[in-house]
Order: sequence, then structure tokens, then C-alpha cells
Amino acid sequence: MKNIVCALALPPEFLEGIRLAAPEYNVIAGRAKELDRDIFRQAEVIFGWSPAIIEECLHDDSPLRWIQLWTAGADYVPMDTLRKHDVMLTTAGGVHPVPMMETVFAMLLGFTRNLPQAIRNQDRHVWDSKGNYTELLGKTMGIIGIGQIGAEVARIAKAFGMRVLGVRRSVQPTDYVDGLYTFEQLNEVLSECDVVVNILPKTSQTINLYDENRFAAMKQGALFINVGRGASVKTDALIGALNSGHLAGAGLDVFDIEPLPEDHPLWSMDNVIMTPHIGGNTDQLKERATKLFIENLKAYIAQGRPARSIVDYDKEY
Ligand code: OXD
Repeated sequence: MKNIVCALALPPEFLEGIRLAAPEYNVIAGRAKELDRDIFRQAEVIFGWSPAIIEECLHDDSPLRWIQLWTAGADYVPMDTLRKHDVMLTTAGGVHPVPMMETVFAMLLGFTRNLPQAIRNQDRHVWDSKGNYTELLGKTMGIIGIGQIGAEVARIAKAFGMRVLGVRRSVQPTDYVDGLYTFEQLNEVLSECDVVVNILPKTSQTINLYDENRFAAMKQGALFINVGRGASVKTDALIGALNSGHLAGAGLDVFDIEPLPEDHPLWSMDNVIMTPHIGGNTDQLKERATKLFIENLKAYIAQGRPARSIVDYDKEY
């Protein structure tokens, strides 16, 4: 019998949905770390990820044909090897827009309302109303790497009365965006934005994209939010722009080194809000990812190919 391995702990009703969608498959499920390596060796379809896949499945006589991730990013997967073995890869694109958008606005409102300072003062029982308070209304937001997550950020930015500019590889009409640009126009866009939100994936083209020149191109007093990947940012250049006051603040969910080392200078910067790469976390994740997997599984069984969020190995996302 053909096997589907779900390398994550799913509630029984979600597993039942998967079994119903693929009655001719044997569905084996468990936490990635607890599953026997032999189980991966027999999988045709894997939902989730385990480093064991690299050794157990990526060889010529493996039955593996498709991996469905439950992350939006796929940069930790060896795409060249998957391509070589003709294994398709789908991300959980479309599963994370709401929590990612909420992370972006939590950081932005934290800055406009001085929440980090209020929380520090609350810890010390200090009443202090000094500080710069500002608004998002009328400000310009640039969303760099605008896909499904960016579209959700744009929708809410418009509700806050912001002007929204988007940058992406191909300029396709996108709701709630006032202007769309390509990467050749990136610096021009950065110079207009009060808020820059990076949502780019990690690819060979995005590594160190935000360097000294890129931060210099940003507007004096801009806020920089990174919920994409830490590798896009030269951290020393970011720290320089924050220390000089060129940037007013940075909201960072992702870092070039994770976990961020205890002695890293970012920890003690008052104009930085940090979260530990939780931007996409939500209690809705398993349900949404399983729904996407079932939709893709039905298409895979019917047409030999999942329906949505297929990684293009040339683009690396
Ligand atoms: C993801 C992430 O890619 O959490 O889903 O970064």
C-alpha cells in the first residue's frame, strides 16, 4: 500500500479528514522527532518536515513524490536535491497571512503608542507620560515582497488610513495597494516610506539585500519591520542606522542568527521590538494547514500534482 506520513501531531479528526481524502493510502502520523526513520523511507507523500527526510527519502529508489510543508518559507529544504529526485514541494502559503499581519501591526502600534516603554515602566511601577506619540494615519507603508501575507498587511494598512506601496518580482494588480513596483525601483520606494515591511523569502537574491546603502535610501525617521527572513538584513548595517537615528525603530521577528545570542547588541536597544520568530504562530495553524493539505492531496490524487503553493525551484520559493 502507498503511504502518507504526517510528521506532526494532528488531532484525530484532522487525520480522519486526510484518510477520507485518500482512502487508497495508509496514513501514518506522529511528531517528526518520534517517528521511526524507516517510516519516512516508505512515504510517497509527507505532510510536515523532518531532517530525516534528507537521508531516508532523497535517493533514486525512494517512492517519495511530494512534500507539503506547514511553513510559509521553504529555505531550510534542499531544493536542488528535491528537484533532482523529481519530488514536488508545496508550502503552507495562505495559512499565515492573519498572524503575520497581526505581528506587523502589533509592532507598529507598539512604536506609535510607546508600548515597550509603558511595559518597562509598568514593571517598575513608574508613571511617565513623556515620549513621542504618533499615528499610522496618513503615513506611507512599503511592503517589500508582497504576496499573500503582504496583501493582508495592505488590507489592514488601508483601514488605518495609510498609503500602501508594494514591491514584488512581477507587477500584478493587488487589492489595497496604491502603487506596485519591481525590485529595480526598490530604493525609490524606500525613500518614500515611513514604514518599510520586509516579507521577502530567503533566496540567493535576497541575502543581505538591506545593507548600508539600502538603509541610507530609507526616509529619515522610518520604521523597519522584518517578518520575512533575517538573512535579508546585514545586521551591523541595521544597528548602525538605528544608532545614528536615521531609522526611528525596528520591529524584528527574524534574525540572521536564531536563536539570537544572549550577548547580541539588539537585545538592549530601546528602539527595537523583538519577537522570537513567532510571526506566523497561531492556534489556527494546524486546522488551516490540514485544510490546505487535503485540498492539495485531492488534486495530487486526481491529477498527479497539488493544486496550490507549489514551490518553483528556479525562484527558490
Ligand atoms: C514560516 C515561518 O516560514 O514561520 O512559516 O517563518
